[in-house]
Amino acid sequence: MFVRRFILIFLIALIGSMAKAQKQDPTIVNKVNLLLKRMTLEEKIGQLNQYTGKAMTGPATAKKNDLQTEIKNGWVGSMLNVKGAKNTREVQEMAMQSRLKIPLLFSLDVIHGYQTTFPIPLAEAASWDLDAIKLSAHLAAREAAASGIHWTFAPMVDIARDPRWGRIMEGAGEDPYLGSRIAEARVKGFQGEHLGGTDAVMATAKHFAAYGAATAGRDYTGVEMSEHELWQTYLPPFKAAANAGAATFMNSFNTLNGIPATGNSYLLRDILKKQWNYRGFVVSDWNSIGEMVIWGYAQNAKDAALKAITAGSDMDMEGSIYRKNLVALVNEGKVNVALIDDAVKRILYVKYELGLFDDPYKFCDEAREQKVLNDPNNVIAARTVAEKSIVLLKNEQQTLPLTNPKQTIALIGPLVKTKRDMAAAWNVNMDTTAIVSLYDGITGAAKTQKVLYASGGSVQHSSDQEIAEAVAVAAKADVVILTLGESYEMSGESKSRANIELPGDQVKLFNAIQQTGKPVIVVMMGGRPLIFNQIADQASAILYTWWLGTEAGNAIADVVFGKYNPAGKLPVSFPRSMGQIPIFYSQTNTGRPYTNQKAKLYLSSYIDEENTPRYAFGYGLSYTNFSYSDIQLSKNTINAADSITVTFKLTNTGKYAGEEVAQLYLRDDVASMVRPVKELKDFKKVMLQPGESKTISFVINKEKLSFYNQKLVWGAEAGTFQVMIGSASDDIRLKGSFELIDQLTSHNK
Ligand code: BGC
Repeated sequence: MFVRRFILIFLIALIGSMAKAQKQDPTIVNKVNLLLKRMTLEEKIGQLNQYTGKAMTGPATAKKNDLQTEIKNGWVGSMLNVKGAKNTREVQEMAMQSRLKIPLLFSLDVIHGYQTTFPIPLAEAASWDLDAIKLSAHLAAREAAASGIHWTFAPMVDIARDPRWGRIMEGAGEDPYLGSRIAEARVKGFQGEHLGGTDAVMATAKHFAAYGAATAGRDYTGVEMSEHELWQTYLPPFKAAANAGAATFMNSFNTLNGIPATGNSYLLRDILKKQWNYRGFVVSDWNSIGEMVIWGYAQNAKDAALKAITAGSDMDMEGSIYRKNLVALVNEGKVNVALIDDAVKRILYVKYELGLFDDPYKFCDEAREQKVLNDPNNVIAARTVAEKSIVLLKNEQQTLPLTNPKQTIALIGPLVKTKRDMAAAWNVNMDTTAIVSLYDGITGAAKTQKVLYASGGSVQHSSDQEIAEAVAVAAKADVVILTLGESYEMSGESKSRANIELPGDQVKLFNAIQQTGKPVIVVMMGGRPLIFNQIADQASAILYTWWLGTEAGNAIADVVFGKYNPAGKLPVSFPRSMGQIPIFYSQTNTGRPYTNQKAKLYLSSYIDEENTPRYAFGYGLSYTNFSYSDIQLSKNTINAADSITVTFKLTNTGKYAGEEVAQLYLRDDVASMVRPVKELKDFKKVMLQPGESKTISFVINKEKLSFYNQKLVWGAEAGTFQVMIGSASDDIRLKGSFELIDQLTSHNK
């Protein structure tokens, strides 16, 4: 038996160890300090105060008189939900009437596009295409910034391993490595090279922290989690976002081990502000300060204010808790004004950085707004990103793409003609006229084919007559494209589902269509992994298209007719049944692993279900095939200062040009803690022409071998490691191994 040489010492202690400090501009710091000296306590607290401003401009303005007075008095630091160059200007003019003329920050949930709607974040994660993801964030930022917005409440970087949780749609899925790379891409996409450009907005890494681990997948529940799990799985994307320069963080609605995240000084002060040396500011979630009273963690609003400011929540979103209580708390000596000053400085800093003191209306240019919102490139990009987000789950006998010009295609299903669904939750642009439905996309692209249509009912219900009509249409066609899935209101915030199978009578509809004997191509739409075993077994082809935004129909049509060869890979495991949840690929081994022997008893298995997911993390097909060969490791042993290069040959063995996402997984054989059976450590998306081969390489360094040990120290332990290269987490094509010979490789992460 191999005996691991254990680590003897770790060099770096937990506290104070990490992070590149975000650099601050001394000129701005100076300006902030000078301004702070001129501010009254009430004005300072005003900066920590954020209100929603829906309908506060235009005809409804009169209703918001109190709010206007607060702004004019300098008691508001930021507004959310006021948008548009004209409206933000109107509200900013109110702030310019205040004594110190401190400009407001305008914020909004620009989650997947502003005017042009991009795919939901989980769908984009399926592209594994960091450039595309960055581009999507950049274009969303450009549109929003042209419309007066300074700050988006995105990206959501919560790891989510429970598809019952409706907000899984807003993140990048289950994996900390993929999640971290995507977090960086999104932050850089939103913020550009530096803040202050009129095509960039501040990003928010949310929800800090562990919100995605909501117990039983029910939104807003408490989270109990080991420290190790927190550091190993849930914090890395936040750390990556902070390192990428995310200007702000948002705390979360959940408790973490009994303490609400909003009042959690371990999270906000110890980890974020001290250990990570984070210089941005933390906004609460919507009244999450006030909710600490409902949790039973604060006696009343005043106690909640005390706990939140002490813990490090800098800005109060829509709760009025700071505004109403902090003055008294300071006067009573319960809150040291230095805490308030620290929060105010963080907020003023970004206002200077954005250039708002020089020109508070910098983002309120109506002419630019018109130009940017009407830029045709936005829609072109939305189509490209949507194509990349589609995952081909099944394609029996090459049902797809449809290449026969004389075919009759039946478009059936409750989601064929809907537009609003394509925009999903967190849709800013409520005008759905520009959205391309699947019907529009397919009929627009079908030049010579005949297209028939039947709805087959709604997502929630199909009558016998609707099913019969759909069957009659299918009978007249050569091939059926059947849309199934969720409607848009079934995923998103507060949209947890206890049952993630297809709602309504959709399985019945599928069965009826299937019985016609026509090939059935299922286009499955939803904001989360859904369970559809029978359809997975029986359909001829399945495209998982999530919610793809403005260009949904065109992107799906591009894939259906072979104009685009799908290359998406699942960023999250799809369970076979609800009882498997939480299911994720990077589980640890057990002392009694089930290895698909016939007898299941006394092994880690279910007596009534497989262990494997229906579709694994990293899985996704192409119209072509790829072969992996010739793996080589540059050496068999490394030490801490070293790296190993793994090379292999990737060949397109099929007829279509296509992209493959080659994935590198590692396993640490024996360690001071039980380690996962495999962990994603790198990936490359490679385009290959038919017959073409490329040599691909991955560099493995100590960073990729490291993990948080029991003492939460980041480092790599000596011993053997398995190298796995594959097309999916359950489709490993090449293997190797090497030994890390150092006794100790602990280092600063
Ligand atoms: C959500 C946040 C969002 C905020 C503002 C909250 O309910 O949890 O993610 O940014 O509302 O709309």
